[in-house]
Amino acid sequence: MGKPVILDHPLIQHKISLMRDKNTGSKEFRELITEVTMLMCFEATRDLPLKEVEIETPIAVAKTKVISGRKLALVPILRAGIGMVDGALKLLPAAKVGHIGLYRDPDTHQPVEYYCKLPGDIAERDVIVVDPMLATGGSAIDAISQIKKHGAHSIKFMCIIAAPEGLQALTEAHPDVQVYIAALDQKLNENKYIIPGLGDAGDRIFGTK
Ligand code: PRP
Ligand code: URA
Repeated sequence: MGKPVILDHPLIQHKISLMRDKNTGSKEFRELITEVTMLMCFEATRDLPLKEVEIETPIAVAKTKVISGRKLALVPILRAGIGMVDGALKLLPAAKVGHIGLYRDPDTHQPVEYYCKLPGDIAERDVIVVDPMLATGGSAIDAISQIKKHGAHSIKFMCIIAAPEGLQALTEAHPDVQVYIAALDQKLNENKYIIPGLGDAGDRIFGTK
């Protein structure tokens, strides 16, 4: 698979700066995550295959292109991945949505799985796993392993902010998965939070603490 793609379009960088600001409240944070996800999706779907169709415009018959019936599935990693679903579905309205519930144990920082519900035909779908944060990589690695166990073999991972540690772990564990990132940050702190990051993405989206 190709190298991780860093989607650093100025609009994306601008919106992520607003998301990082601790004074940005949940409402604005949710709007921003939706907008950033839409912009990222635009790039992450650049390789979708097209087929030629014939349509009648009011003026003439035209040979033109539409996306060829490729079936997609979005899989957010709960909770924070839910924040990216609306934006992705705006561009990919026909995608089915699966859910994988994982939380990081606060002491070990290891992912603990509590939920998994995927489309029955996930094996035939192109899967985009979404989670705004890639810290140690544990959650993304486990989620993708789970999705592969269900038979999927065409998988992309899209996250907004990544730590180098997590990116390395993920690409080593799943070298076949194309990764899209909007910002590659400095490192993890002793609590395995991303520096500078944006804090706890789930809490920022849902207003919990
Ligand atoms: C966050 C985030 C990722 C995970 C990243 O979820 O949304 O899923 O941490 O960390 P990792 O790369 O070290 O695994 P969290 O566990 O805080 O759960 P939440 O979304 O329910 O708040
Ligand atoms: N999960 C988050 O939400 N933020 C981090 O910085 C690390 C893990």
